[in-house]
Amino acid sequence: MNKSIDTWNGQYYKQHSDSQLQRGLGTIESLTLHGDEAALDVGCGDGRITVALAKRLPHGSVLGLDLSESMINEAKKSFGDIPNVSFVNDNIITFATDKRFDLAVSFGTFHWISDQLGAFKNIFTLLKPGGRMVVKIGAERRGGPNLFESAKWKPLLEPKGQRWFPQTPEKGQAMLEACGFTAIDVRYEERTTTYSNQEALFDWLMGWVPHSTGLPLEQAQEFARDMVAGAVKEQGRSENIEQNGRAVVAIARKPV
Ligand SMILES: C[S@@+](CC[C@H](N)C(=O)[O-])C[C@H]1O[C@@H](n2cnc3c(N)ncnc32)[C@H](O)[C@@H]1O
Repeated sequence: MNKSIDTWNGQYYKQHSDSQLQRGLGTIESLTLHGDEAALDVGCGDGRITVALAKRLPHGSVLGLDLSESMINEAKKSFGDIPNVSFVNDNIITFATDKRFDLAVSFGTFHWISDQLGAFKNIFTLLKPGGRMVVKIGAERRGGPNLFESAKWKPLLEPKGQRWFPQTPEKGQAMLEACGFTAIDVRYEERTTTYSNQEALFDWLMGWVPHSTGLPLEQAQEFARDMVAGAVKEQGRSENIEQNGRAVVAIARKPV
């Protein structure tokens, strides 16, 4: 992969992404599984959700795929010796293999992909007939000002702008239909996370702000500090700071 575009830090993400982890684990727990499925985790990040899925598939396997070399290195370092788990550093839009999957999951990843239709098309190809897909896509963030549009930061982010491509159920549904998926269920899911203090919020933000803004580390830290200050001002407290939002949950099947 092209290292120059890797704005993720797998080690840091693993230490400061427990809210994402808990959301992913909740979905993994809720899946009805036979235990022998071949699964694909798209945008597997540090691999913690990938491994939770593998534990539910004692006679199956999971391939964790991620575009970030740093994330894949972290996943392999932590979980490289688990027999039914493997990791690959690749792009879901172009990833090709002869293997076909019973299940594809993806958490917190599609909203970082501009060509979501291309990604869905490739997942469709990678699934076996009758295979299932469960994807959660960021749709809306609340709980502080939108600095991406602020006078201070907007000029520094251009021409890239923010690397965040939120989704709506209507557009998600249309894309899945265009790919040929059936049994489509696309809906919003509300989410709230509370950070005990400003430092906890800052630490979580720094898991994705460097990627989202494309800013060098020191500027990304200033951006995150501004986000924390804005949230504190808006909510009128510096403890138990809320970050609200919603995701689009898309569930679909490849026809038999
Ligand atoms: C916020 S992390 C989510 C990690 C994990 N799924 C979780 O929920 O904690 C988003 C991941 O998506 C990956 N990603 C973004 N675009 C991708 C693409 N086109 N193909 C594969 N992975 C991609 C990033 O490299 C990053 O590791």
